[in-house]
Amino acid sequence: MKLVQFAAAVIAFALFTAAQAQQPVVVKFSHVVTDETPKGKGAIRFKELAEAKTKGRVKVEIYPNSQLYKDREELEALQLGAVQMLAPSVSKFGPLGVRKFEVFDLPYMFDDERSLERVVEGPVGKGLFKLLEPKGIVGLAYWFNGFKEFTANKPLRKLDDFKGLKIRIQSSKILEGEIKAFGAIPQVMAFSEVYTALQQGVVDGEENTPSNKYTQKMHEVQKHMTLSDHGVVMYAVIVNKKFWDALPADIRRSLVEAMAESTQYVWDIAKKENDDALVKIKAAKTTDVYVLPSTEKAVWRKAMLPLYQEYEGVVGKDTLQAIEKTVAQSSAKK
Ligand code: LMR
Repeated sequence: MKLVQFAAAVIAFALFTAAQAQQPVVVKFSHVVTDETPKGKGAIRFKELAEAKTKGRVKVEIYPNSQLYKDREELEALQLGAVQMLAPSVSKFGPLGVRKFEVFDLPYMFDDERSLERVVEGPVGKGLFKLLEPKGIVGLAYWFNGFKEFTANKPLRKLDDFKGLKIRIQSSKILEGEIKAFGAIPQVMAFSEVYTALQQGVVDGEENTPSNKYTQKMHEVQKHMTLSDHGVVMYAVIVNKKFWDALPADIRRSLVEAMAESTQYVWDIAKKENDDALVKIKAAKTTDVYVLPSTEKAVWRKAMLPLYQEYEGVVGKDTLQAIEKTVAQSSAKK
């Protein structure tokens, strides 16, 4: 090769490398809810902060509402590196072989979000994230949505009202146990399929936060809602470990900062998002909203107690005791 050709090749390669160096790092952030939810708004806030803090060296592409992947697929896509970031409900880690996250599915475990926040920010939350690493996943943060309410096309006021109903749940063995303890039939289903299944009567009801119900228009196909506050929807924001470990340290530091600020934002807005969604559901006049009286709530809570014994082996006695201690301390402070 003549010297001129060699020099031209070197310059071309240098230009290519320089161009490559200018290419932003792309973070595909896939999730299954609309932008108008605590998680949807948190993803958008993370995108804004991540792109600003890295001065454009990172580009976050958000794919909301199961556009790219739905429930089960999204975890597989993350492990394959087809997407870099997710924020699935912690009820959905069972199929990944990490069932300990289902501890958050135990009914009536929490009655206020502050104790929940203390649990996920403490040793329990950190210990659960450690379990994800052998799966090629890094846990970055926990985002809160809200307390779950039941809906169905018949009033749900007493335990007997659940008899024989098909109730949609997330892919969690403890949620299966919960719905059976209510005397109903659990049906695991992807979040993106729930509206149609309710509309067609494939399932009779489901449990979710008001913001999830409203943004999926479930109130249009559910005549009755019971404010039972019997469980929580909590998310783990996770990234593909290979991608995360390969990031330049300064970019990773900026993303950690962006994640911390967007996490605080999600916890700050979650309650209002759900309160506002409930107001809109009531205003739509499609669903009769019933507040479960505390006397009846005590009956439901008692009926759920055997689940704690039954699943202690799965979630770990130490984890259960640590959570119950935090919840008790939180109640004492009220
Ligand atoms: C559900 O599947 O009901 C929820 O986990 C959806 C979500 O991500 O909030």
